Amino acid sequence: MSRSAHPAGPRHADVFPEGHYSAPPADLNALHPKVWAHTVTRNTDGVLTVGGVDVAALAEEHGTPAYILDEADFRERARAWRTAFGADADVFYAGKAFLSRAVVRWLHEEGLNLDVCSGGELATALSAGMPADRIAFHGNNKSVEEIHRAIDAGVGRIVLDSFQEIVRVAHVAQSLGKRQRVQIRITVGVEAHTHEFIATAHEDQKFGIPLAGGQAAEAVRRALQLDGLELIGLHSHIGSQIFDMSGFEVAAHRVVGLLKDIRDEHGVELPEIDLGGGLGIAYTSDDDPREPHEIAKALTEIVTRECEGARLRTPRISVEPGRAIVGPTAFTLYEVGTIKPLDGLRTYVSVDGGMSDNIRTALYDAEYSVALVSRTSDAAPMLARVVGKHCESGDIVVKDAFLPSDLAPGDLIAVTATGAYCRSMASNYNHVLRPPVVAVREGESRVIVRRETEEDLLRLDVG
Ligand code: LLP
Repeated sequence: MSRSAHPAGPRHADVFPEGHYSAPPADLNALHPKVWAHTVTRNTDGVLTVGGVDVAALAEEHGTPAYILDEADFRERARAWRTAFGADADVFYAGKAFLSRAVVRWLHEEGLNLDVCSGGELATALSAGMPADRIAFHGNNKSVEEIHRAIDAGVGRIVLDSFQEIVRVAHVAQSLGKRQRVQIRITVGVEAHTHEFIATAHEDQKFGIPLAGGQAAEAVRRALQLDGLELIGLHSHIGSQIFDMSGFEVAAHRVVGLLKDIRDEHGVELPEIDLGGGLGIAYTSDDDPREPHEIAKALTEIVTRECEGARLRTPRISVEPGRAIVGPTAFTLYEVGTIKPLDGLRTYVSVDGGMSDNIRTALYDAEYSVALVSRTSDAAPMLARVVGKHCESGDIVVKDAFLPSDLAPGDLIAVTATGAYCRSMASNYNHVLRPPVVAVREGESRVIVRRETEEDLLRLDVG
């Protein structure tokens, strides 16, 4: 690691420009427990440790950038969801947030089920030994081949997302001599309070079958008629990174309304209801996520109340948290490469990764917390923008953050809460290699997804 001092330049410790950020924290070395994995602390030398391993050792052994995942924290959060919902409900971890074989094994051991949404996720789940009947298969355009594979493997449920898919799944199931358990994904017409790109239950978007205009009721009619399908319930997912429970309340009200209509029309009480995922996590200390037991209590009460009102038996509830389990358990460890103070603006801190390992800032204006982790510092705070090494000015990892003004090339910094939708959305832009995922636990580190190599890149390039 190079440790040369950066050139002397203007500091902005007392002149901060307008922007969407709060005042500098009182202590830049403090690690706010809300945004860091549970086992994170600083050792007596001021170096951040996680799972009993310090980040200097992690950088030395695994290189940077790297996603560092706290296995004990992951298991604890998974277990907290499982326990909160109890034996009368199911928790399906949403694999899209981050999936690897180690993660599948941890989920299996902790008693969770798994939501997959592509052949690739299905293959990962099956290859790591997740029992097929604990897998739910999602997606708005599953291929016939994927449907075939899922049914053949014996997945516990397929969530139907369109009229075409109702017929396709029934057809494939019949051709395999099976009756597939299915749910129908309903678009309930809720505007979730989140970024437009991750809201999924308002009417003008691609997911699900709208309640509006009787389309969902018609989908149920068709599904009930097909021999290849066993309709077990309805599904609703309203979006992601949501804190306000009112959207779930409206969704549950409308889904239960349809359950009642189905009972009245067909004399059938569907036994299951899935309320999707979407619960928010703390990316900064301003965010206040709810605990799994509060969420479980709120959702169970809403569904029970709605069903009592409609004189229905309360169906078995399931949920699909992704981000809320894996998001807070990991951080991205970067080495600082260059530092450019721009007078009167802010200081640009370039790290050895960027939008290829975290696209969320560029895509959703996501906010993150960042800290100097290879040492502590008493220097005054400077307003920094953490940027990557890609050929784009939009290559921003943390838009506005305070870092110590003596930050220097070779320092290690960590961007927190990058467990969800960072490695899983990583790209090879500029042929930058995707970082490894390193799991730490009880003083040991273990690579669970290895770093990509140039050989990996060239292997695909067969022209
Ligand atoms: N269930 C379904 C049907 C979903 O589509 C999703 C997420 C989940 C569950 C899990 O949601 P979670 O609990 O993780 O919020 N790339 C975006 C998030 C996209 C979410 C897609 N679906 C981001 O980085 O914020």
